[in-house]
Amino acid sequence: MKTSVALIGFMGTGKTVVGKLLAEKLDKEFIELDAVIEKKAGKSIPEIFRQDGEIGFRELEIEATGEVAIKKNAVIACGGGIVLNKINIDRLRKECVIICLMASSQVIIKRTSADTDERPLLAVPDRTRQIEELMKFREPYYKRSADVTINTSRISAYSVVEKIMEKLKENES
Ligand code: S3P
Repeated sequence: MKTSVALIGFMGTGKTVVGKLLAEKLDKEFIELDAVIEKKAGKSIPEIFRQDGEIGFRELEIEATGEVAIKKNAVIACGGGIVLNKINIDRLRKECVIICLMASSQVIIKRTSADTDERPLLAVPDRTRQIEELMKFREPYYKRSADVTINTSRISAYSVVEKIMEKLKENES
């Protein structure tokens, strides 16, 4: 049986908040993949993008995913672009149930408005357009990767956690 959970989904869908709560409820280790990448690189995500470009970041993301994907009893909050490289999903799938959190573009635009400094892909003049285009491009990637998809637009993080727990129980039986 799979003992870990990987949370995927676009930026601002609630992976970190939900992941922490879920890990607490399930008594599992919480892992934030971006934090693992920052530790490996010895610099922040925006610095990685500035100095090594998105390609450099994706290489680190693949390495970090390889390390955390083998962990048992973990809740892993992945970065929004994890789905772009299939190798990441193939590795995660071995030990993790993959839950995709989604939200409407309006909700994502609102939720991410305060922290564009931390998200290099959203540090552009037309953030709304960038979000809409990236979401559209990535939609099939999230679809093909997810075991379960949960819409977080209108419900609290606590309700999302409840829903995930229900789905995990269904998966077990
Ligand atoms: C990214 C999402 C970010 C981070 C990086 C790239 C993406 O993580 O990994 O800025 O490509 O969607 P969050 O989804 O946690 O913001």
